This record gives sequence, C-alpha cells and structure tokens, in this order.
Amino acid sequence: MKVSYFGHSCFGVEVGNKNLLFDPFISSNKLAGKIDIKSIKADYIFISHGHEDHIADAVEIAKNTNAVVISNFEICNWLNKRGIDNFHPMNVGGKWIFDFGKVKCVNAVHSSSMPDGSYGGSAMGFLVSTGDSHFYYAGDTALTYDMKLIGDYRNLNFAFLPIGDNFTMSADNAIIASDFIKCDKIIGMHYDTFDYIIIDKKEAIEKFKQQDKSLILFEIGETKEI
Ligand code: NI
Ligand code: MN
Repeated sequence: MKVSYFGHSCFGVEVGNKNLLFDPFISSNKLAGKIDIKSIKADYIFISHGHEDHIADAVEIAKNTNAVVISNFEICNWLNKRGIDNFHPMNVGGKWIFDFGKVKCVNAVHSSSMPDGSYGGSAMGFLVSTGDSHFYYAGDTALTYDMKLIGDYRNLNFAFLPIGDNFTMSADNAIIASDFIKCDKIIGMHYDTFDYIIIDKKEAIEKFKQQDKSLILFEIGETKEI
C-alpha cells in the first residue's frame, strides 16, 4: 500500500483506487509548511478524536474533496454544524463495510474535546481491512492491554502508533504495543511537532531494531510503499 505523510499524525493511505486520509493537521503545523492542503486527495477522512492537532484541516479538506468523514458521532455532528454533510458516524466497538473495505473502531486511551471546548465523544483508533491486508491506525493513545484484542483479532500488515510520549505513549511503550498487536512493522507518528514531544529518532529506531522490529519514520511530504 502507498502511504504518504503530511506531518504529525496525518497520513494518506492509497487503498485500491481510494484515498484514505487520517487526522488532517497541516496548515497550522509549522513543520508541514510546504504541504498545500489543496493538493491533498481524499475519498475518506478518518478523525480519531477532536483535538486541534487531528482535526484542524478536516472542514477545508472535506469541502475541497467531498470526502466522507468517518469519526465518532459527536465529531460528525460538530462537523455537520460547520457545513459538512458527507459523513459516517461510528463509535468504539462498531464496524462498517465501506467500498474500500472494512473499518472497525477500537479503544484509545485519551481525551477528546473539540477545538471550541465542546464535547468530542470518545477517542478511538481504526482497524482497516481491505482484501487480505489489515492495518491499525491508533490515533492518540496510551499503551493499553486492550491492544491485545487487536492482536488476536487481525493479522496486521503494519500499524501507525504514536511515539512522542507526554500526550501519548512513548517509543518504548510502542515496542510493547507492537507485541500486544502482534505486528512488527510500525509507522511512528505524533512526535517532534511540539516541544513536549521532540524525541531522539535514531535511538527509537535502534530500540525497535534490537527487538527485531522496524520503526518506519517518514519525512513530511514523503510517500513510501509499505
Ligand atoms: Ni489528542
Ligand atoms: Mn494529539
């Protein structure tokens, strides 16, 4: 699968002829200044929770692309009040079959208020299955034993995990998470964007290597075949 990185926790994943976009936070991310959000393709926009650094560009990109927003019920309602009509509300534990594949919403241990302070429902992660391929986008979360359910449930090809610490789990905890989800190919996210989450990337990659796992980190704007 072709995966593109737009900074922080924002990734595009090409699934067949559909473009899935996760947690768009680009125009106000100082590190992602070279990305023009008008150039971003999306058929579906996934929003893991309501925090600004995951939803900042959702309204504009949804309007530009007419993508379907997949998020929790409260976030879909919030976006609807801002002119977005094309959405599919879900909640933790639920699954739905879309034209690109299956999505199951899983638990994330995190908070979820909206940028205006209103209630943002529960933070979640997404399990995406398409054909024989499965991947996990964790959103913002702590390390949690619930991740063992994901490992038992699906044979993951790769997973997006936060590694920045302070607001989410750290790279060390992501190594444990990768055991829980039984997946050794991890794409790191939610690091370096803010002072609180600047990490030693070389050290993190090395720690994964020592456990025979791979931590894949992207340059912002980079696309890789995963
Ligand atoms: Ni957050
Ligand atoms: Mn965040």
